[in-house]
Amino acid sequence: MKELAIDGASGRSTIMIGASIKQLAALPRAKKIVIITDRTIRRFHEESFPPWPILEIGTKEISKNLATVESLYNGFFAHELDRSSFVVAIGGGLVCDVAGFAASTFMRGLSFGFVPTTLLAQVDASIGGKNGVNFQGYKNLIGTFTQPEFVLCDFNVLKTVPEDEQKNGFAEVVKHAAIGNEGLFAYLESNWKRAIDLEPEAVERIVFDSISLKSSIVNKDELEKGERRKLNFGHTIGHALEKVTGVRHGEAISIGMIAAARLSMNRRLLSLRDVQRIESLLINFRLPIRASCSPDGVVDAVFKDKKRENKEIHFVLLDRIGSARVEPVSIEEIREVFVDLC
Ligand SMILES: NC(=O)c1ccc[n+]([C@@H]2O[C@H](COP(=O)([O-])OP(=O)(O)OC[C@H]3O[C@@H](n4cnc5c(N)ncnc54)[C@H](O)[C@@H]3O)[C@@H](O)[C@H]2O)c1
Repeated sequence: MKELAIDGASGRSTIMIGASIKQLAALPRAKKIVIITDRTIRRFHEESFPPWPILEIGTKEISKNLATVESLYNGFFAHELDRSSFVVAIGGGLVCDVAGFAASTFMRGLSFGFVPTTLLAQVDASIGGKNGVNFQGYKNLIGTFTQPEFVLCDFNVLKTVPEDEQKNGFAEVVKHAAIGNEGLFAYLESNWKRAIDLEPEAVERIVFDSISLKSSIVNKDELEKGERRKLNFGHTIGHALEKVTGVRHGEAISIGMIAAARLSMNRRLLSLRDVQRIESLLINFRLPIRASCSPDGVVDAVFKDKKRENKEIHFVLLDRIGSARVEPVSIEEIREVFVDLC
């Protein structure tokens, strides 16, 4: 087991990588503890849970809303939680985001911890203290920056994650490698098959390197004023694609990363060879590098996004594999690369 830490405004978050869910029982020091999870995770893993009361939420993104948060507040109330109580989320990014938000707002904030159960939740959603829910069709519009006291990553729980969900996690791992860790990128190029097969050594390497990168960025810029924006590589176009076409998150950001890489090449930052390396790696993870939709709808959606700033948008570009920068780009530049990808 390896440990990393994030020192945020709300306190230290200890991240335990390669731990066992069996260690969970000893972590919170509170008289009253509740678990928040969903029924799929219960079905596969409830026998490993400590004997604490369970509150269940829905399994689909549609339940990531304020009504679900209210149902959790009712559950906290029924279990008579007070400010000394502790909340543990066991689940994917959805469960962690909603549970973290409910805990960090109930009675002005209960302590909480996460046991992320998908690859995406381990390498991304559970790390960094962003909690929240969707509102009026906008993703994560309501939320807090509050760090979980601990994040316990048990690789064994990943074995039950369906293949399509697993791909979302690999897309985020490729993103982390592309923006900040050339060594991890090269490792993935040689070991993608071992990663897909969840071979323990490969999982440990990719989860540890991904969390190291994200936690070091969050330690420098918890509130996303600068450096943390680099984690949006592939996401500006990705979110628009997800909204307009309904493709899965990992697929959308895979195409978004290719668009951003090509835009970087058009600006003479990135070589064609590096664009091709990113394409090949994504293909190995069975992620798409082209979209099947009309470019106009997606380009419009990019500019309706909340990050719009006049006619330019702050966009994450690559200088090379392993190094990113944020620069304003115009609607024309985005349209130009996107037309080629449709
Ligand atoms: N807070 C952040 O910084 C951040 C970052 C990235 C994504 N997110 C959020 O994370 C969410 C997506 O998270 P996700 O990709 O983990 O998907 P998810 O949480 O929506 O889970 C997907 C499905 O997998 C099931 N599942 C989870 N763990 C499982 C397991 N071990 N075995 C079998 N099935 C399992 C769930 O029940 C669900 O049906 C989105 O809401 C997104 O906005 C947040």
